[in-house]
Amino acid sequence: MNYRNFIDTQDFSKEELLELIELTRMIKAADKQGCTPKLLQDATLAMIFEEPSTRTRVSFETAMTELGGHALYLKPGEIHLGVRESLGDTAKVLSRMCDVIMARTLKHETITGLAAQATVPVINGLTDYNHPTQVVCDVITMLEHMPAGKKMEDLNVTFIGDATNVLSSLMLICTRLGINFTHAAPKKYQAPAEWVSWAEANCKVSGAKLTITEDPVAAVRNADFIYTDLWWWVGQEDQIPERRAAFMPTYQVRMELLKKAPAHCKVMHCLPASRGVEATDEVLDSAQSIIFDQAENRLHTEKGILVWLVYPLLKRPSE
Ligand code: CP
Repeated sequence: MNYRNFIDTQDFSKEELLELIELTRMIKAADKQGCTPKLLQDATLAMIFEEPSTRTRVSFETAMTELGGHALYLKPGEIHLGVRESLGDTAKVLSRMCDVIMARTLKHETITGLAAQATVPVINGLTDYNHPTQVVCDVITMLEHMPAGKKMEDLNVTFIGDATNVLSSLMLICTRLGINFTHAAPKKYQAPAEWVSWAEANCKVSGAKLTITEDPVAAVRNADFIYTDLWWWVGQEDQIPERRAAFMPTYQVRMELLKKAPAHCKVMHCLPASRGVEATDEVLDSAQSIIFDQAENRLHTEKGILVWLVYPLLKRPSE
């Protein structure tokens, strides 16, 4: 059967991503009118998690319920996933029982391995390399908070902090869509050359500008959106002193830095946040913060992605 996975925004053209964004915005508008269309009636989503999650888990499960379907939460250690059963066998079995699979895996190879053997769409709910569903949500949130008189291709997005999986996805979706992107971080924590080369290739097609710098003040000077993320993740606890010393205080998003940006600049964070570390409470709770609009948009975005991938594959009574 002909279908698409959602593993990397690099697998999609600008036009396809804009189609997904438009569909999501239409479904959100219907939701806000109280008439969510039951487009995935009786469909089942298998949700595999090798790591904990609040937003991804809740947004996908709620999205399926509101679209008339059902979601199975398969928590870490609950199913055989490469342990006692091969990845391929798990993918094939889930494909016989479910209409779509979403997985958060420790290693990116696990999600690509799942997708290679599954026969239903596979959605990436975060890996060590990227977080594509998050960044579609982020672009939708930016479009909802557009500065007056600007269009998408005029936007300047500045990411301050570690080259996380969110940084990789955000840099790639922005440059693909024609949004100017700046990453400010100490040299050691800047994006790997391979990610930069992909983003530069995107810029050549889209006309976006990519800037990598160690200077956070210069990075925010024209920023419409400042985005930050955790400085360390599970498994990096032994690096905390070194990472804290590298980032603090220069790269902390605090009022002093936010005031260097244009007054309309908004602050974003994918959450969870280490409050008082990568950003202060004062900034995260300020009028310029849109972090909870962003979190809510995960729900709308998951609906858009699920409908985009799965609705065309469902058998309906008249067919
Ligand atoms: N932003 C995000 O993916 O949050 P969770 O880890 O809670 O899913």
